[in-house]
Amino acid sequence: MGKIPQMSAPQHRIMAIIGQGYVGLPLAMAAVDAGWNVIGVDNFDARVAQLNMGSSPIEDISNSTLQAAISSGSYVATTDYSAVSSASVITICVPTPLDQKREPDLTLLRSAAKAISPYLANETLIVSESTSFPGTLRDVIIPIVNQHKPKESHELYFASAPERVNPGDSYWTQKNTPRLVGAINEESSHRALAFYKSICDGVISVSTPEVAEAAKLLENTFRLVNIALINEFTQLCSLNGINVNQVIDAAATKPYGFMPFRPGVGVGGHCIPVDPLYLTWWARQRGGAATFVESADSINHAMPRYVAERALQLVEPGLTNPKVLILGVAYKSGVSDVRETPTSELRDYLLSKGAEVAWFDPLVPVWEGSNPVSLEWPCDVAIFAMNQSGIHTNQLISRGVPILDCTNSLFGTIGVTSL
Ligand SMILES: NC(=O)c1ccc[n+]([C@@H]2O[C@H](COP(=O)([O-])OP(=O)(O)OC[C@H]3O[C@@H](n4cnc5c(N)ncnc54)[C@H](O)[C@@H]3O)[C@@H](O)[C@H]2O)c1
Repeated sequence: MGKIPQMSAPQHRIMAIIGQGYVGLPLAMAAVDAGWNVIGVDNFDARVAQLNMGSSPIEDISNSTLQAAISSGSYVATTDYSAVSSASVITICVPTPLDQKREPDLTLLRSAAKAISPYLANETLIVSESTSFPGTLRDVIIPIVNQHKPKESHELYFASAPERVNPGDSYWTQKNTPRLVGAINEESSHRALAFYKSICDGVISVSTPEVAEAAKLLENTFRLVNIALINEFTQLCSLNGINVNQVIDAAATKPYGFMPFRPGVGVGGHCIPVDPLYLTWWARQRGGAATFVESADSINHAMPRYVAERALQLVEPGLTNPKVLILGVAYKSGVSDVRETPTSELRDYLLSKGAEVAWFDPLVPVWEGSNPVSLEWPCDVAIFAMNQSGIHTNQLISRGVPILDCTNSLFGTIGVTSL
């Protein structure tokens, strides 16, 4: 267990963040930067130990940033929820995944809400940053807190401020990404706006937590359906011998009404493949249907198979067990995160077709229990799935290995076929 933090700052400058992952840790460092003393609470002992040793588990936060925060006494990690009793603001940043039926799984969110409740000081502001369906703050978190809070904490404040972090993006940060805040009443709103204004350049107040929660689902669903549109369009272009990326570049010259999205192996990560299914589930609960979103989800899920088939077409005819090398297995460029990566489905489909599959990703040391191979691995075709820096494709090109390029970064290179 991590040590119980003793913060010397007055309570109104102490905050606690539940969950120290891709969302919670950058928020912690941004809050430290803004003058807050931060207690990072996480239920994973190994992560807490790693954090307190000054070793950052995520790419966007350097060890030196974390170490500076620790040595200044402004940051400490712990597994002990009682530490939140000294905070005036608590943000919840725990995962909100899908369950076996691909429906919202709020187990971690519920357990985080329950775990902090007995330690809440009077007048604490509790903010949910986790992505979830509208009504999660009001109908899930608040009832749990009210059931388990101490009698003395009769006045608590609540808001929803969905996180918009974009891992691997050094331009859009916690500070310069505008933040939506929707609170349950005027005093909660006043406190939540003041808190986020201390950290972010732009804070937008919306009328209710449900508006903020729904806006987050809309943002990510917007990406999902546009990526699906481009993935479908890619297949139509390919049937007609047209390079889709040239078409997208051409369309993007229109100064209004068009946003370029790029095709790929599918969608991955904790957000884009997951959040829209919170929306479809929420719609079903109310007797509605989000058919357009469901259709987009199916198109994206069909992409790994499409990519596999395109790659196998590049292999010498008659080869029954081709060796296929997947280059880049993280779900996006610049990160080591392989959660929900579409390359899993790509690999599985290739295996089902009898291929021998190996992979290489400079940022991923181990993937689903398997180790990477080097670029020297003798293969019959390579699939450039994700453009990670350090993938030197010329090593393969010079050996005459055909490459299917899903990244639009090798266009025009001899031996390379664009998606
Ligand atoms: N990763 C992103 O790009 C991103 C962007 C915007 C929003 N979000 C949302 O933010 C939320 C958090 O996502 P993340 O990517 O930071 O997850 P993560 O897996 O990177 O980190 C979550 C952390 O929370 C800890 N944790 C889990 N349950 C806990 C509990 N009950 N108590 C204390 N700690 C607990 C885990 O050990 C882990 O360290 C999710 O709702 C996600 O949808 C994520």
